[in-house]
Amino acid sequence: MNPHIITVIPGDGIGQEVIPAAVCVLETLNLPLVFSQAEAGFGAFERTGNALPAETLRLCEDSAAILFGATQSPMSKIQGYQSPILTLRHHFDLFANLRPASSENIDLLIVRENTEGLYSRRERIEDAGQTAVAERVITARASARIARAACELALKRRGRLTIVHKANVLKETCGLFRRIAFEVAAEYPTLAVEEVLVDTAAMLLVQNPSRFDVIVTTNLFGDILSDLAAGLTGGLGIAPSANVGGKHPALFEPVHGSAPDIAGKGVADPRAAILSAAMMLDWLGYAQAAASVTRAARQTAHAGSIAITTEQIIERLLEESPHAH
Ligand code: NAI
Ligand code: MG
Repeated sequence: MNPHIITVIPGDGIGQEVIPAAVCVLETLNLPLVFSQAEAGFGAFERTGNALPAETLRLCEDSAAILFGATQSPMSKIQGYQSPILTLRHHFDLFANLRPASSENIDLLIVRENTEGLYSRRERIEDAGQTAVAERVITARASARIARAACELALKRRGRLTIVHKANVLKETCGLFRRIAFEVAAEYPTLAVEEVLVDTAAMLLVQNPSRFDVIVTTNLFGDILSDLAAGLTGGLGIAPSANVGGKHPALFEPVHGSAPDIAGKGVADPRAAILSAAMMLDWLGYAQAAASVTRAARQTAHAGSIAITTEQIIERLLEESPHAH
């Protein structure tokens, strides 16, 4: 069997710490994985003038999956800087952002549309700087494929789909998303399908998170609700995500960013990166290894040190699986 080539992009800040930890865990599993290291992010931009160097993109194109840490984005516009994660999502058409959240009584999956909505990069200044406008682009095509992905995932889970939108106010954009999502969901008669307005969804996530199975929603809403869900289940330190599309390599990354406040101290929680690596294993077809890594990471508390937490997770894995080394 040909090995799977994984492009590893630690990025900036704690990405440089948690991604090597995740690779360490993967290396104990004795799977046919080959890792190639690549750079991207603000550091890469400062060094090379390009946040996503051509060599990195080329490596990604030749790989089965991308394991991505986090990059630091400047708050204001810097000439020539483009967020590499947004570029990668667009380049590989990674239209579905899967963000699971689980704890004792919560087991939900947010399926976030990843290519359009308010993140369509259509922003402009008008009125001599006194007005800023963002265009929210919603297409039938993107709505249909994200709805279909969510329905397929719901079939494999508890069979419940919640369509989250704000069509009462955003009548055209959310209206289109809502209509298409219901049309697609109608092709799945065994699913229990409901709709919830996004503000109500935020409240229900806090009050009664166990009522949710799969949530499908547009880009910005999914971004915010998934951080909320992460907060409910132990925080960004254990929130993983996948960006998947069609035939291209998929990209796996912790939900958190570069955490400049704790970068370089060795104290970040590596579990979000390790759980993201587990999602990657599952996507590559190593379901058993994925389940083992997920279990080991979830059963391990963060010791306040990347090195110690990673070591404890690896010890758990070795106890459980005699084939790992
Ligand atoms: P952040 O996720 O980096 O940090 C938020 C808070 O959570 C900080 O207090 C941080 O110390 C803590 N935190 C995050 N991950 C942690 C971990 N693994 N263990 C322990 N504590 C952790 O978000 P923030 O501060 O809003 O953004 C910082 C930078 O990261 C910005 O430049 C932002 O643009 C970038 N960012 C990048 C993302 C990506 O690459 N996909 C996603 C989110 C933010
Ligand atoms: Mg986010």
